[in-house]
Amino acid sequence: MRPESTARYWLRTGYVLIATAGVVALGVIGWLQQDELERAENERASLLSTLATTSDALAVATSTVAQLEQELLDTTHRLRQTEEELDQEVRQVDRFRRQIEEITGTVATLDRLAQLDRELLQKYSRTFFLNENYRPARMTRIPDRWVLEGRQEQYFLTDAWPFLEDMLRSAERDGIDLRIVSAFRSFDEQGDLNQQFVRQFGTGANAFSATQGFSEHQLGTAIDVVDPETGGTFSRFANTEAFTWLSDNAHRYGFILSYPEGNEFYIFEPWHWRFVGRQLATDLYNAGEYFYDWDQRVIDTYLIKIFD
Ligand code: DAL
Ligand code: ZN
Repeated sequence: MRPESTARYWLRTGYVLIATAGVVALGVIGWLQQDELERAENERASLLSTLATTSDALAVATSTVAQLEQELLDTTHRLRQTEEELDQEVRQVDRFRRQIEEITGTVATLDRLAQLDRELLQKYSRTFFLNENYRPARMTRIPDRWVLEGRQEQYFLTDAWPFLEDMLRSAERDGIDLRIVSAFRSFDEQGDLNQQFVRQFGTGANAFSATQGFSEHQLGTAIDVVDPETGGTFSRFANTEAFTWLSDNAHRYGFILSYPEGNEFYIFEPWHWRFVGRQLATDLYNAGEYFYDWDQRVIDTYLIKIFD
């Protein structure tokens, strides 16, 4: 072969080799790109699948949230209803409590009333009658220092004694000497005394002495009181400082003058005072009226407070 032909031969061969290498390179590149594309598509498919799953999950979650929101609304509504019902229950319980308190109060009042002697505020003067068996529940002997000299021992209703003692001491502090002439008198004692006066003064005695069963003294809450100077001359007592003191102050200790001037039962008895409780005595004093002026039904309402 000629050298020219040889050169051409190698040149052609070189071209072929280069072309082959190029084709191979292109093939490899194409293969590589194909692979890359496949991976990308796989990845896209996987992402799409994940997206679909996530969308489903999101839809489920959204529905769950809506359901939870509805449940929350229902629960809130039920809670409000329960609160209202609870409020109603509380109000109902409160009403019951007040009713029970009222009933308890009424029972306590009735209980107290049942223990109080209804006779203590009755009008005895010629109107009501105490039978021969009536005696005050408990009596206290009045200390001798308060009893007019020469008089026998005297007794007063125990529950009312502290009020009488207070009055006697208070008068003493104001320089007024009060002395008890007579306090409790039994049915028989009153009968004997009345008979004695009738023998002495005839029927005129009934103007200042009650017949048995009609005397406030049988209650143990009435006193005949004077000062030592007046002594047994009762009629003089109206003009003493002691009587003025009693007229101004006795109501503070629950005492009233039973027989004022011009009363319809007996002569004016400035010495005869009766315990009716501070409230009633004070209301009578403020009204400028007397015990026997008032209706018995009104007087009875004070019984519950008689020892207050
Ligand atoms: N001196 C009064 C009225 C009485 O005897 O009870
Ligand atoms: Zn009297």
